[in-house]
Amino acid sequence: MIGGVVMDAQKSLVVVGAQWGDEGKGKVIDYLSGEADLVARFQGGDNAGHTVVYGANIFKLHHVPSGILNSGTICLLGNGMVINPLVLIKELEELEKRGIKTTNLRISGKAHLIMAYHQALDDENEKSLGDKKIGTTGRGIGPAYADKVLRRGIRAGDMISPDRFQACLSEVLPLQNRILREIYGHPGYDLIELTDLYRPALERLGPLVTDVALLLSEQLTGGKKVLFEGAQGALLDIDHGTYPYVTSSSTVAAAAASGTGLGPHHLKNVLGVVKAYATRVGEGPFPSEDSSEAGDQLRERGNEYGTTTGRPRRCGWFDAVIARYAARINGLTGLAVTKLDVLSGMELLKMAVSYRCREKDTVNFPLSLEELAQCTPVYETFPGWDEDISRVRSQKDLPAAARQFLNALEEKAGVKIELISVGPDRTQTIIMPNSHLEAWISNKS
Ligand code: IMP
Repeated sequence: MIGGVVMDAQKSLVVVGAQWGDEGKGKVIDYLSGEADLVARFQGGDNAGHTVVYGANIFKLHHVPSGILNSGTICLLGNGMVINPLVLIKELEELEKRGIKTTNLRISGKAHLIMAYHQALDDENEKSLGDKKIGTTGRGIGPAYADKVLRRGIRAGDMISPDRFQACLSEVLPLQNRILREIYGHPGYDLIELTDLYRPALERLGPLVTDVALLLSEQLTGGKKVLFEGAQGALLDIDHGTYPYVTSSSTVAAAAASGTGLGPHHLKNVLGVVKAYATRVGEGPFPSEDSSEAGDQLRERGNEYGTTTGRPRRCGWFDAVIARYAARINGLTGLAVTKLDVLSGMELLKMAVSYRCREKDTVNFPLSLEELAQCTPVYETFPGWDEDISRVRSQKDLPAAARQFLNALEEKAGVKIELISVGPDRTQTIIMPNSHLEAWISNKS
């Protein structure tokens, strides 16, 4: 049995964001999902936006794992997710229109639904916060998770028939309407109209509802390879992020277990994705933000505009304090560094290597926002390189300056680099020899 557990664990790979989301996880997951039998999401909802470039096609995915582009991969939406049924059916329609098979998608009956009133509440909450707004994606994520915790959510399993769905809605809608009308002056929702609005989604999605936890456990025990796809990033985690400027789910690797219904022993390899620089959307602290011309350069070169909202992303430098922190709270076994090609042509590169907090240097991320506000990053600078690296396929063929930058990144973060991405296409990927990741890729099911 112990041997069996170890073997199962070798078959799983958790991929998480190790900054503020938008690290390029979509590309990394799309690349790796070709090696997986199953890809499972375990938290978040359509606040996530993965841009995947596949040949001449660009796909923008919000709920559906990037693995859907591989016709043999089973894609799962786990119980830790919140799902907007209206958005999900559109996403599936769009994929099907472009010839992508979606029959391999399954939804946990325990995942919670994001309803129209959650989106309205998200908007109203943000408006009422004024200057203190979180800068959410406006997708209703926080209110949907709040209702889950308050034990008044509607779950994917309630979509199996219109009668059941309407019965659930009729229980929760009066209170939601009272909140919307009495606190925010919003007109609220009509029960019959809302049921009718969701009817096509129930028809399309109801048959996909499955016991995802059971399916995953059977598949792992049967020796299948599973990729767990994280959304957002470590610093947006509800507990470990820069609260309250965070999302409403647990974004760290451990959530892959609770968010799909598996025990933690199934998880072994944890790949943290970082950009070679840093970005953040929404409000909240961002110590290595660069509001000068260099930040603008990074935004334009890296096309740093939100996939979900189109908002320009705040840009800055790679922050090794954050990478170290993300490594610790996730138990990272390796790093994937994305968008290295974006740095080509920058004269000088900066990296935050420690924080100066009340006249002391630290490499540990502070406990509270108050402490963080008293810290300034300490930078090291590195020479840039001019070469176009988008065709490089081996780490040793990178310019010396790029290797120097990556060596420092790895050393300061305290985690080995296992994957380097030098462009958006699948082929623009370097896997480090003798890494955990290489072993996972070659470990056939
Ligand atoms: P929410 O998840 O929509 O509630 O937004 C909360 C915070 O998380 C905001 O700062 C969002 O910009 C941020 N956020 C949520 N999802 C993502 C993502 O996929 N990438 C980057 N930031 C995100």
